[in-house]
Amino acid sequence: MGLFSKKAKSASATGALPTHVAIIMDGNGRWAKKRGLPRSAGHTAGAATLKSVARYCNKLGIRYLTVYAFSTENWKRSQEEIDGIMEILRANLMNTVSFKDDNMRLTFIGDRSRLAPDLVELIEKAEADSRNATGTQVNIALNYGGRDEIVHAVRRVVEEGLAPDAITEQTITDRLYTAGIPDPDLVIRTSGEFRFSNYLIWQTAYAEFWIADVLWPDFSERDMDAAIAAYGARDRRFGGRK
Ligand code: FPP
Repeated sequence: MGLFSKKAKSASATGALPTHVAIIMDGNGRWAKKRGLPRSAGHTAGAATLKSVARYCNKLGIRYLTVYAFSTENWKRSQEEIDGIMEILRANLMNTVSFKDDNMRLTFIGDRSRLAPDLVELIEKAEADSRNATGTQVNIALNYGGRDEIVHAVRRVVEEGLAPDAITEQTITDRLYTAGIPDPDLVIRTSGEFRFSNYLIWQTAYAEFWIADVLWPDFSERDMDAAIAAYGARDRRFGGRK
């Protein structure tokens, strides 16, 4: 616990704790390269960080945590790296005991049609097993793309035969993978990059953005405290004036 932890606590005391935090977990590859390790070692370390960050969010009382695990563009990576990430996911999904112990709910967002059938089965089982958990809901974005998600939503609107005048912003919101989940208040991106990378592009219209200058496997509770403290100090006007 560092300098910022007190601020983070006071932010939560004043009601400024974000309800929904979204994270772009960037820098696993660079973390591994710095150590002369294969990229998959970076993803293994990244998965361990994700578990500890999820537990920390649960402890702080953050209701939703949405993390970018694999984008619709990530299929362009080497087959070896893709297989490595899917294997890490499988291994973690086969052992979600600690998640259950912490009363955390696990859900996935993204297009499942391109995922291996056994992985989809594990995902569905993990979701069903944790459905009634009341702690932090951890949403894992897998084969997720913001534009792809909007295309899917629009297809559904057309299939349902809605009249043009009946279509509102809520019509789209209700047909996204995140239907029923409030928009993220705070988006954190690690490894010092300033990009959205097609992440939750509809949902983050009014989100606050925070760049952490550490590689994802090194992201700590202290880094989370700093992001939350910065969020608590922001003046959110949602396009209006005070
Ligand atoms: C970004 O780093 C990270 C990813 C694309 C994959 C994230 C995946 C995990 C943390 C593992 C998933 C596991 C679970 C349990 C959900 P990068 O590879 O783009 O790093 P670089 O920019 O340094 O190359």
